[in-house]
Amino acid sequence: MQIRELSDNDADDVRRLRKVAFGSASEEDPVRPGRRGLIAELDGRPAAVLTINDFHQFYGGAPVPMAGIGGVAVDPHARGRGVATGLLDRSLADLREHGQPLSALYATVPSVYRSRGWERAGVFEWLDVTIDRLPAAPRTVARPAGETDLDALHACYVDLASTVNGLLDRSQPAIDVADVLKLDIVSVAPGHDGEVRGYLTAERNRDGLRVFDLIGRDAATQLGLLSELTSWAGLLDQVSLRVTDPAVTGLLTNQGLRYTVNTSTWLLRVVDLPAAVAARGWPAAEGLKPAAVDLDVVDEHAPWHAGRQRLVVDDGSVRIEPGGSGAVRLHARALGPWFSGMQDSHALRRAGLLDGPAGLLDRLVGAPGVPRLADFF
Ligand SMILES: CC(C)(COP(=O)(O)OP(=O)(O)OC[C@H]1O[C@@H](n2cnc3c(N)ncnc32)[C@H](O)[C@@H]1OP(=O)(O)O)[C@@H](O)C(=O)NCCC(=O)NCCS
Repeated sequence: MQIRELSDNDADDVRRLRKVAFGSASEEDPVRPGRRGLIAELDGRPAAVLTINDFHQFYGGAPVPMAGIGGVAVDPHARGRGVATGLLDRSLADLREHGQPLSALYATVPSVYRSRGWERAGVFEWLDVTIDRLPAAPRTVARPAGETDLDALHACYVDLASTVNGLLDRSQPAIDVADVLKLDIVSVAPGHDGEVRGYLTAERNRDGLRVFDLIGRDAATQLGLLSELTSWAGLLDQVSLRVTDPAVTGLLTNQGLRYTVNTSTWLLRVVDLPAAVAARGWPAAEGLKPAAVDLDVVDEHAPWHAGRQRLVVDDGSVRIEPGGSGAVRLHARALGPWFSGMQDSHALRRAGLLDGPAGLLDRLVGAPGVPRLADFF
């Protein structure tokens, strides 16, 4: 098997591979600024592909370079021979060379990616809300957005995103914020002085209304944008809201006891632990006394950060240094859910991915977990 970088000349092969794998293929160029890829050839014929996007994901308020891997497709005749895993192995070295210490992907077949160290570390959700459960707040006097609003809309988004671990910064060139103007509805909520206080983006299709972003700088703006959706009563029973700001869907809508959330999980891979730790924000480290955790990272697919590493907290900052006693064993698959804060050390231990005393790791990422009941009354 030969693996090489994707080029513009591969566009037809990429379309063919994706069409066979997924039933359809986009007309977009597989390679463009902010996106590259790898292609595997068997007997001189392209047999598998994956693309790599140059994203940044906010963690602790800092945008960390993240390779968003997508469109992994292997020709049916080439499956079951280690082609996908071969591509992933090659991609790990490629990501490190390109300064991308994290990688995220949506997996239809998690076992393939788990075998190479990706693990569930966050969610992508859509909430269905019946229109009579939307708040009856005074409606915002919104206006349609134009090109001159794009920077202000993006600033609104980034101010929110920097406070929600995992959200992208939606920076160029991987993402063109102007694409938002192609949507059916882009409403801007202006403040008294004309400043943008919030916005709503949505698309109408035969199934209903899908609201992508509903973002406001204050509760009144968010409630006003939510109540704009009540104008769909009669024609639609419900709308779907993408959970971009969990405060809107969690604290401002009035859904009842049971409601429908469509959840997709994404998997995260820490490709280069020292670089990922250096790029992350660590607000919980402020005010902590100097401390250290001695790690033993078990990662055969990313040998550059495997073995004994010491995580050092010093003067509000956090860094990784080689060495230490290796008292806390961390499997490669533990790194993603720990880094994102989705799983605490107790859960990682129960899953067989961590050994040793790791309370400081929890404190640093502030892994809150979801408070739960498993008894109904
Ligand atoms: C999923 C896909 C990429 C796997 O490619 P592949 O080259 O056959 O995978 P590999 O041979 O490297 O297999 C790696 C491991 O995953 C397992 N695996 C592969 N496909 C699987 C599937 N569909 N379901 C469950 N396990 C699967 C293999 O058994 C193997 O496990 P092992 O190492 O324990 O033997 C390929 O089947 C494909 O293109 N499917 C259609 C598109 C798709 O689903 N893409 C994934 C998008 S996230």
